[in-house]
This record gives sequence, structure tokens and C-alpha cells, in this order.
Amino acid sequence: MLLTAGPTYEAIDPVRFIGNHSTGKMGFAIAERFAQCGATVQLVSGPTCLDIDNPAVIVTAVTSADQMYEAVKERAPAADIIVYAAAVADYKPKVVADKKIKKEGNDLTIELVKNVDIAAELGKVKLPGQFSVGFALETHNESTNAREKLSKKNLNMIVLNSLNDKGAGFKHDTNKVTIIEPDAVTAFELKQKNEVAQDIVNLIWERLHA
Ligand code: CTP
Ligand code: CA
Repeated sequence: MLLTAGPTYEAIDPVRFIGNHSTGKMGFAIAERFAQCGATVQLVSGPTCLDIDNPAVIVTAVTSADQMYEAVKERAPAADIIVYAAAVADYKPKVVADKKIKKEGNDLTIELVKNVDIAAELGKVKLPGQFSVGFALETHNESTNAREKLSKKNLNMIVLNSLNDKGAGFKHDTNKVTIIEPDAVTAFELKQKNEVAQDIVNLIWERLHA
């Protein structure tokens, strides 16, 4: 299986970047769980402080969305299952300054351009029988937005994280998710992230063996 995890960092200049609060915990927990089930896991991860000590998990460290896309594109044709757990930055600076930007004046505007949507691009070239899973972090119109992503990115399943739930999302060790499929919705209780990972892997496993 192939999995993306963590944030991406988009360079502004040699010392600064645009990033987000993703820790990679959910993705790494899913990788660990798949490895325990006997899968060989290709884990493409943005910058995190996490480590996996399991020979069945091959970690490729990347920094930016473009680098993550290249690594995923190369590994996708060999994958039976692809899980997009990374919090990919949606935009990157249009120009990366080659020298540190010096402080001048009171305002600074950085022009941003859209990053590649890794899940959507891979969704266009999805192989027959390949099972793909995305994540959605929403604050409003949760299930409508998640369903839209499910179809737009050609996914089999989307794991919806609601930031409205206490104890869920970034910076927590717990998470409360709802898994949406074209014909099914499964809601789970607030749990430790490694238990949530187990629920996600179990449901993928069930669907693959149905
Ligand atoms: N994703 C991706 N590449 C991107 C953006 C998102 O692969 N450039 C993947 C994420 O890993 C996740 C899914 O797409 O599995 C949904 O990500 P999310 O940020 O919720 O959706 P977006 O399509 O970026 O929409 P928005 O941020 O506006 O809600
Ligand atoms: Ca996004």
C-alpha cells in the first residue's frame, strides 16, 4: 500500500516556508497498522518528528507538495491501496526568493499559486481494482463537502474529521471520524488516533475482501 502523511512545507525563501499544524500522527498510525496486517507500506511523508521502526514500512521523506507528488506518482502503479492522509498545502509562493527576504516597509505581499492536487491527479489515472482513500477536514457543510471530494478525486472512501468535535483534529491524540463511501456512512466514537487508524484499516480490509 501507498500512503501520504504529514504536512508539506512550501518555501518562501531559504529560511522560511508556508506550512500547517499536521503532525503526521494519523498517517503514521495507519502505516503501522497496515504493516501489522502484513502489507508492505510505502510511506511518503512531509516533515514530521515521527519515526517508524518496522521493516515493512519504507519511508520516503519529502518537503513540498511538488516533491510529494513526484514520489507518489512513481510508486502509485505498484499499489493496491492508496491512502492520502497528508495535509498538503493548497498554495505555494509563486516565486521562491533565492536570498533571505529583508525586512523593509510595513507590508509584505507574497503571491501564491495553487499546488498540484495529488489525490485528484492520481484519481485520473487510477488502475482498475485500486482502492483509494482520502481525508477531509471540515468546519462546515461537512458531509456535503466530503462527498464532493469523494467523487472529484475518484476515491472509494473518505475519512471525515470534523474540527467541531472536541478533542478531534490537529494537536490532539484523539480523533472522531466518519467514514463516507458512495453507498455507506460509518460514524465512529472519539478514540485514540491509533485506535482510529485500526478502524480505518479494518474497514478498508473488509471492503477489499467483500
Ligand atoms: N490532497 C492532495 N493534494 C492536495 C490537496 C489535498 O492529495 N494538493 C488530498 C488530501 O491528502 C486529502 C484530500 O485530498 O486526502 C482532501 O484534502 P482537503 O485539504 O480536505 O481538500 P481540498 O481538495 O484541498 O479542499 P479544501 O482544502 O478547500 O477543503
Ligand atoms: Ca486543502
